Amino acid sequence: MIFTVAIDGPAAAGKGTISRAVAARFGFAHLDTGLLYRAVGALGGDPVLAARGLTLADLERGDLRSMAAGQAASKVAVLPQVRQALVAFQRRFAQRDGGAVLDGRDIGTVICPQAQVKLFITASAEVRAHRRWLELGGDKAQVLAEVRERDARDMGRAASPLRAAADAVVIDTSDLEAEDAVAHACAVVEAGYWSER
Ligand code: DC
Repeated sequence: MIFTVAIDGPAAAGKGTISRAVAARFGFAHLDTGLLYRAVGALGGDPVLAARGLTLADLERGDLRSMAAGQAASKVAVLPQVRQALVAFQRRFAQRDGGAVLDGRDIGTVICPQAQVKLFITASAEVRAHRRWLELGGDKAQVLAEVRERDARDMGRAASPLRAAADAVVIDTSDLEAEDAVAHACAVVEAGYWSER
């Protein structure tokens, strides 16, 4: 069975929590596509060569979750050749037998426009910065500035900018507990699953 769930949205909106929960609930494989860009940024050197030669082992590096790695990822992600080099890997993953959840910025719009379910997870910049700050610490104003900077780059780039697909279900998690956001997402996936049968 091929069944793809595309989950997009800005940094720290709750995509990761929701994607992992949906994958666990339905027994689907999960790919956090941000890790691909984070690994390319962390490898250094020529980002296009790094993207072309990326291996699964590169995704296991321990330093990929930091704010600095997120900024580096966002910078290499503006490069069309980097994005192009990562398309085939993501599409192969989406076509796995047994179902797949991919989360990122352009999954519903560019990587898997035929996905059976598309979700766009968002929240205010202030709420997202607060969550990042609880997770990583540091100077709160600086965290908010970095969230805004990354939003501007991810939404403003010419190649596959962050935006909701026209047919995506939008979930704003600003005022939701994680478990309520997960329940909402699972209900949407379940409805999509049964409409496919
Ligand atoms: O989801 P994340 O914070 O790990 O993503 C890090 C950066 O990678 C993000 O700022 C933009 C880029 N990215 C992208 O351009 N396309 C994706 N599908 C996933 C991430």
